[in-house]
Amino acid sequence: MIKIAPSILAADFAKLGQEVEEVEKAGADWIHVDVMDGHFVPNITMGPIVVDALRPLNKLPLDVHLMIENPDRYIEDFAKAGADYITVHVEACPHLHRTIQLIRSFGVKPGVVLNPHTPVETIQHILEDIDLVLFMTVNPGFGGQKFIHSVIPKVQQLSDLLKERNLSVEIEIDGGINEETIVPCAKAGATVFVAGSAIYNKPDRAQALQNIKKAGEE
Ligand code: DX5
Ligand code: ZN
Repeated sequence: MIKIAPSILAADFAKLGQEVEEVEKAGADWIHVDVMDGHFVPNITMGPIVVDALRPLNKLPLDVHLMIENPDRYIEDFAKAGADYITVHVEACPHLHRTIQLIRSFGVKPGVVLNPHTPVETIQHILEDIDLVLFMTVNPGFGGQKFIHSVIPKVQQLSDLLKERNLSVEIEIDGGINEETIVPCAKAGATVFVAGSAIYNKPDRAQALQNIKKAGEE
C-alpha cells in the first residue's frame, strides 16, 4: 500500500486551508509540513503556529519534517500543535535517542531523516525505537529540485535490514517525487511518498496525485 503525502511547501500560502482541503479530497494519505530555520537549511518556512491552524481543518496525519538545528527545543510546541509524526535529521541530532524519546513522550510518532549522502549505518542502532525513516532524495531546503538516484540503493539496504530484523518501520521518500521517480523507490521498499511541486504545480492536482499513486502501486 502506497501513501502519498503532499508537501504544503508548494501550496499557495495565501489560501493554505483550501489547498490542504483540495489534496485531502483528492486522496492524500498524509500532509507533509516542511519546517526550515535558515540555519540547518538555507531557507525559512513555518513554525508550530501553522500546524496548529491546519489541525482542526483536516483528519489526515500531519507529518512534520524538522529541518532545523536543536530540534529538541521545539518538539513540545509541534506536538501540542497537533503533529502526528515528527521527523528529525540525524545530521542535526548529536543525542538521537534522547530526541526520539522526547518525541515519543508527547505521544507523537518519531522518525529519522537522512540527507542524500548520509549512510544507512548511522541509524542501524535506533531502528527499534522509531516508526519512520525518511530518505531525502534532494538536498533539503527547497521544493522543485532534481531527484538524486543514488539514494535508491540505500532504500533497498534499509528495507532488507528491516526484513532481516522483522521490524515494521515506514520508509518515506522526499524530494523530486513524480510518476517516474516513484517507481524505483517503491520497488526498493518505500511506502510513503512526499510530493510537492508534482502535485501543487499541476492544474489538476487530484489527477496528478492519483497518477503518482498509481505509478507507485504498479
Ligand atoms: C525539501 C522538502 C520537501 C519538498 C519536496 O527540503 O523537504 O518536502 O517540499 O518538494 P518537491 O516534491 O517539489 O521536490
Ligand atoms: Zn520534507
